[in-house]
Amino acid sequence: MAGVSTPELAAAVCEAGALGSLGLAAVDAAGARAMIAQVRQRTARPLNVNLFVHTPAEPSPAREAAWLSAMAPLFREFGTEPPAALRPIYTSFLEDDAMLAMLLEVRPQVVSFHFGLPQAERIGALKAAGCVLLATATSLPEAAAAKAAGMDAVVAQGWEAGGHRGVFDPDAPDDRLGTLALTRLLVLRSGLPVIAAGGIMDGRAIRAALALGAEAAQLGTAFVGCPESSADAAYRRALSGPAAQHTVMTAALSGRPARGLPNRFTRWGEQVGLPHPGYPKTYDAGKALIAAAKAAGDDGFAAQWAGQAATLARAMPAAELVTTLVAEMAESAG
Ligand SMILES: Cc1cc2nc3c(=O)[nH]c(=O)nc-3n(C[C@H](O)[C@H](O)[C@H](O)COP(=O)(O)O)c2cc1C
Repeated sequence: MAGVSTPELAAAVCEAGALGSLGLAAVDAAGARAMIAQVRQRTARPLNVNLFVHTPAEPSPAREAAWLSAMAPLFREFGTEPPAALRPIYTSFLEDDAMLAMLLEVRPQVVSFHFGLPQAERIGALKAAGCVLLATATSLPEAAAAKAAGMDAVVAQGWEAGGHRGVFDPDAPDDRLGTLALTRLLVLRSGLPVIAAGGIMDGRAIRAALALGAEAAQLGTAFVGCPESSADAAYRRALSGPAAQHTVMTAALSGRPARGLPNRFTRWGEQVGLPHPGYPKTYDAGKALIAAAKAAGDDGFAAQWAGQAATLARAMPAAELVTTLVAEMAESAG
């Protein structure tokens, strides 16, 4: 969970017996190295690090200008102006040589990819370094590509899932398969071990994923409310309020579809009626607006990613949450 996961959160999850993950998409190689080192100071157990493998959008100055001018009235509400130009704020792992070199040196036990697959040489190098490799798939063709590329397992991310949807091509038609249908499809047809993700909030739901043939379950939203996450107070409040019952998929914040809690920004995205400037440049504008609003004390423009079952999130320490999930799995057995 890039932007929300912390070394403290990942380490607590690892120490409690699950596989903790660090979202590295928003940091450079030096930042990632420091985060991994902080986890390793706290635990010797296996760690998963996650990278974004997006194909950066083609620059489109006309689209960018139109988008920024549509956002300008929102910025002015907070006494500021939109940025003059948009930057591709997240470096794709496709072109991040420093990140690859760092990973080959520190060798995290598990490396997972979101939004696509790296080049064959990068996959080969990470495998030779002993890393287990995972990739998100939202469809059977994406899972087949993951298998052909040599992934060790696939994360079946259903439409219910919080955060960015891992589709390889955000401009292609999307069948929006739910976690149940996608998990079963990939278990039967992908030829890879499957990790189910999307709307799983408690031990009974994990058990249901395993009953579908998944080898494991991946939970995101369930851990946002943990004190070890970096979610701010407004995010935590919203997660336990009425908005959590009405999550929406929006591309207006970042330029790629992502599920989160509804607010003024997502509603603006529903009525703006313009093509966004693609990922991650749209997120540069989005983050600038979010920061301007927050500085003015307005929480209505935050990126509060959350899945369809967000209402079931529990604000408890991560280790306690893992223990609770395991106990719930045992209680719901048979
Ligand atoms: C706040 C948040 C941030 C996320 N960031 C990432 C990320 O950086 N990389 C990734 O592969 N998935 C990310 N996801 C998606 C999760 O990996 C997973 O697919 C999703 O959380 C599962 O659905 P759930 O939230 O209903 O549990 C994120 C999800 C959330 C809620």
